[in-house]
Amino acid sequence: MRSLNYLGILALLLALPTTHSLKAHDFKTCSQSGFCRRGRALSARAKEAGATWKSPYVVDPSSIAIASDQATFTAGVKSSLYPHINFGLELRVHDDGVVRVRMDEVAGLRKRYDEAASWALISEPGISKDIKWTAGKKDIRAVYGQKKENEVVVTFEPLRVALLRNGKEQVVLNGQGLLHMEHFRTKTPEVTHTEEAAPKEGEEVADDEAQVVIKAKAPNPGAWFEGDNEDDYWEEKFSTWTDSKPKGPESLSLDINFPNHGTVYGIPQHATRLALPTTTGESPFFSDPYRLYNADVFEYLASSPMSIYGSIPVLHAHSADSTVGIFHAVASETWIDVDHASEKSTETHWVSESGILDLFLMPGPTPEDIFRQYSKLTGTTVLPAHWSLGYHQCRWNYVSSDDVRTVQKRFDEEDMPVDVLWLDIEYSQDHKYFIWDKKNFPDPVGMINDVAALGRKMVIIVDPHLKRTAEYPVYKKASELGLLVKDKNEGEYEGWCWSGSSAWMDFFNPNVWDWWKSLFKTQKLATGWSWTESTDAVHIWNDMNEPSVFNGPEITMPKDNLHYGGWEHRDVHNINGMLFSNLTSQAVAERTDSPTRPFVLTRAFYAGSQRFGAMWTGDNLGTWEHMAVGVKIVLSVGVGGMSYAGSDVGGFFGNPEPDMLVRWYQVGAFAPFFRAHAHIDTKRREPFLLDQPYKGMIRDILRLRYSMLPVWYTAFRETSVNGLPVLRPHYVMFPKDQNGFNIDDQYYIGSSGLLVKPVTEKDATEAKVYLPEDQVYYDYFNHHAYRGAAKGKEITVPGALHQIPLFVRGGSIVPTRERPRRASTAMKQDPFTLRVALSKAGTARGELYLDDGETYSHREGQFVWREFVAEKPAKKSRAIRLSSKDLGSARPAEAVDGVVLKAFDPANAFAKSIADVRVEKVVVVGLKAKPTAVRIEGGAKLVWDFTAGVAAADKKEGTASLLVIKDPKALIAQDWAIIIEW
Ligand SMILES: *[C@@H]1O[C@H](CO)[C@@H](O)[C@H](O)[C@H]1NC(C)=O
Repeated sequence: MRSLNYLGILALLLALPTTHSLKAHDFKTCSQSGFCRRGRALSARAKEAGATWKSPYVVDPSSIAIASDQATFTAGVKSSLYPHINFGLELRVHDDGVVRVRMDEVAGLRKRYDEAASWALISEPGISKDIKWTAGKKDIRAVYGQKKENEVVVTFEPLRVALLRNGKEQVVLNGQGLLHMEHFRTKTPEVTHTEEAAPKEGEEVADDEAQVVIKAKAPNPGAWFEGDNEDDYWEEKFSTWTDSKPKGPESLSLDINFPNHGTVYGIPQHATRLALPTTTGESPFFSDPYRLYNADVFEYLASSPMSIYGSIPVLHAHSADSTVGIFHAVASETWIDVDHASEKSTETHWVSESGILDLFLMPGPTPEDIFRQYSKLTGTTVLPAHWSLGYHQCRWNYVSSDDVRTVQKRFDEEDMPVDVLWLDIEYSQDHKYFIWDKKNFPDPVGMINDVAALGRKMVIIVDPHLKRTAEYPVYKKASELGLLVKDKNEGEYEGWCWSGSSAWMDFFNPNVWDWWKSLFKTQKLATGWSWTESTDAVHIWNDMNEPSVFNGPEITMPKDNLHYGGWEHRDVHNINGMLFSNLTSQAVAERTDSPTRPFVLTRAFYAGSQRFGAMWTGDNLGTWEHMAVGVKIVLSVGVGGMSYAGSDVGGFFGNPEPDMLVRWYQVGAFAPFFRAHAHIDTKRREPFLLDQPYKGMIRDILRLRYSMLPVWYTAFRETSVNGLPVLRPHYVMFPKDQNGFNIDDQYYIGSSGLLVKPVTEKDATEAKVYLPEDQVYYDYFNHHAYRGAAKGKEITVPGALHQIPLFVRGGSIVPTRERPRRASTAMKQDPFTLRVALSKAGTARGELYLDDGETYSHREGQFVWREFVAEKPAKKSRAIRLSSKDLGSARPAEAVDGVVLKAFDPANAFAKSIADVRVEKVVVVGLKAKPTAVRIEGGAKLVWDFTAGVAAADKKEGTASLLVIKDPKALIAQDWAIIIEW
């Protein structure tokens, strides 16, 4: 703390906001950001000019060069405003139909940042082999696709790019003429003189503002397009900060329109609805564009286009006919206006501060196709460690080793399952991460071992700010090796964070990588310091990696800071946090000789972060609004490929009442990442502290989550293969159902057939759930059958505090493990229950994926992957055959984490390790009538019990019939079949 004199304190008190809420003035609005203002002004000029507006950017047809691969062409582009400036355009079509559009300034005064894609992409995508560009007088075009349904047309004058499907325009670039790549220029000399400025009436003028600079310049012939003042070209002030902008203006504006798509999703992370509301035009819902600029926003708003912690420049444009997607690989601050120009079309306007145009057009045509196309570019969510899908208990802070031990003990005494105990920043001495505060944590390894002894893990925080003191070996070495981010004068950048005066590792510097990984080794290294006071049971939390800088502009680094290669922070800001979690997850994986799956939680993220672990929605508030919007944010980051997501259960800030806490656990239990966390100023709120009936309710919710771990893990296997989100919004499941486009408060879990609607209103006793199809949906708990309708139907279901609206879609088989255990690691040999929810046609199908959950042996074929099917054995048969068969050999092209296995062995070592694991119970819901016999196919009769009720095939609603087969003598890893006969 700097010392303040009396007047200073008084000034500070007067300046303090009266409420304790978001300090919105800490963050820029579009009108406070020079390039955003310029972008919106350009759009306003275009609107005003109407039909007479014409983009100055033109392709030079004589410059077109089609590459020998035929799928790529390059061309020169000029702007009539600046005929001496050259731009280069490149289009290429990938083998899956994705079109990559790149544009850069050629031989300019400086170089634009062009490396964002190299951090985001998993590899250079394959190029299409059956496409040919044909250049004509006015345009160059290519037709492709299985039925030649896709076409890309690049018009020359003005430059316009369109992707068509079946002759209909899907995506149009520069259709409104808002493309503008500000070229590098020298500051034009100006004739200046200063004058005393007369203060306006009633206006106080500070001394240093009492003079105005009168500038005289040659008139700009491009003023109709660029505007006639150099608005913040060379310097920008915000609050007390000045951004020096040594490169001058270099922003990039582009309109991207979807003439046939009325709904757009994505561009996370924003606290808003999944279907993005309008930000411009006649009656905007938000007055500012959506902003992508990773930021540590203290107590963020529950409805706002403001940036929060992560940025994924991916947008889905959707209609009942088709879906298209775009991914813009740009790492600088970006603002995106969305205008639902008509019910059937959407116009978007993207303005980025720096970087090249590097846009991927994903043709779809279904949402599922787009997830595949996008994950082919940036990778999938890697299969997480199984234990990490259990419940995580966190708090700022568990204050001592004994505190940790007590919390663990209390969970066990109350029979509440938990897998992971977390330590926030106060474990460390003076916030020097890795270094234990020995006063409160005298025996760190002993404490970790006590947690690990019960099959649990610890997650410990390591933030990117390094305390600047020679006593901190990590900082000392980084400083000596010159691995830290530099300020604009190329000195070591100093900022303030938890650790006081701090410096930041420059993860763009390759010399950081191996060294950072070495820090996590648990054995002593000859080469330098390593974390010997840690064990393999420790995994890592990367917070504050936007990066958060308490005394920096917008609570982050100055944009003119310098990274490796001379790039400014402005060029790389949004990918900065991703490199940190990338390297940390590699470090954790490679700690042991045979690597194990790391768990790393990150707050900041970018396109591609899904490869490195989980994210959470940051410092939310303990309010109902935040609970509700958290669900939407998690769905929306899933659209951006980041499936492994969740919100702090309970809300980070505040002291939620017990009923709110119960609801929050219900939300958390149905999020991929399930963690409770709380601010240091909050009262303790671990679930064992609650009174009845709340304590019992939360115990039930925790147990429910654990019973459903097979569902979650199987869903994660799928996303690790094809990139489909773990939580599936309605438009992804039912892309043609117009009624579902705006639904973002209920969703499906993977392909399991489970539909959940978390209740997020106080005192609710019921909930409304939308059923999108003519199918039966069963209440998961009491087997009440509800019937949807072909055109969609809303049902009202019980939703009191102890009730979760959770449904099994008819036609699904859901595998669970229903024996309560203290941690997931204690469940490895537990038997399974199969819930067979018959469809109206009397059939059902489901999957189960299992492996050791910790190592990478699944990539060598050590797993069990089963398919369960219930169907009539023959057309006229009156029986139902329920069978289990191996999927690993049946579908070898879909191995996990992208590794295709040549010959999968169903009798692999992992399968052998669970050879005795049984199916202990089969529940068949919705049978027409009481069977006459149930037996193993070709074998013994089984013991069963039937309760009559509504059948799946009936149009009736009510409690469904229930057949319970106890101990069906079936092993989970083996083929078997059960015959139900009449
Ligand atoms: C990040 O992760 C990928 C693997 O997904 C790896 O290939 C790349 O080299 C990593 N390193 C950095 C510094 O991003």
